[in-house]
Amino acid sequence: MARGRFISLEGGEGVGKSTQLTALAEALQGRGLQLLVTREPGGSPGAEAIRKLLLEGEDTRWNPRAEALLFAAARADHVEKTILPALERGEWVLSDRFLDSSLAYQGEAGGLGIEAVRALHRFGSSDFLPDRTLVLVLDEAEGAVRARARDGNLGDRIGSRPPSYHAAVDAGFRAIATNEPDRVKLIDASGPPATVTARLLYALGDLLP
Ligand SMILES: Nc1ncnc2c1ncn2[C@@H]1O[C@H](COP(=O)(O)OP(=O)(O)O)[C@@H](O)[C@H]1O
Ligand SMILES: [Mg+2]
Repeated sequence: MARGRFISLEGGEGVGKSTQLTALAEALQGRGLQLLVTREPGGSPGAEAIRKLLLEGEDTRWNPRAEALLFAAARADHVEKTILPALERGEWVLSDRFLDSSLAYQGEAGGLGIEAVRALHRFGSSDFLPDRTLVLVLDEAEGAVRARARDGNLGDRIGSRPPSYHAAVDAGFRAIATNEPDRVKLIDASGPPATVTARLLYALGDLLP
């Protein structure tokens, strides 16, 4: 049986990742693919336990290095326990966030540097990468409006960081897409959800059976 494909959906707060994950999953299942939908931080029992440590509490609860290590530890468990077994079963895996969020948030916005965070991934997960990473990009103000509509505010320990942090996250995602153009595609997240879903499917066109 052919190994499945691993697709990650990325982007800042409120750009529509979770909305698109559901829509994309339906579209891919409609094409007859077996699908596993997962998310980060989390996606396995151990990683979900680490998720609570990461997203709850004061912003100062973890320093940037400790935060990056916790994300890398959660990801190592998620890859081993959930993602790789599904791919081996021939399923496609769709993840709401993956490595590139760590590169953009902890690496670029958190000041550790993209390369330092990538090194943690080499150690934790043998540098296992998605077959394709789709980064939803939206004008920052529009993203904040969508996130507020969803949460009433900007939410958790990381989402509630200042606009300058989120602008740096956005710059980080764009830099990653420039450095890895075959794996990472920037997708315009503006417009109605169905239009965005069509853009995502188009960006997967070469991988679809
Ligand atoms: N294309 C869109 N146009 C308008 N609103 C949207 C669109 N996609 C998502 N939303 C809304 O924006 C909010 C944030 O979307 P969500 O999928 O939760 O974003 P994320 O998971 O990236 O934080 C939700 O209230 C959602 O219903
Ligand atoms: Mg979401």
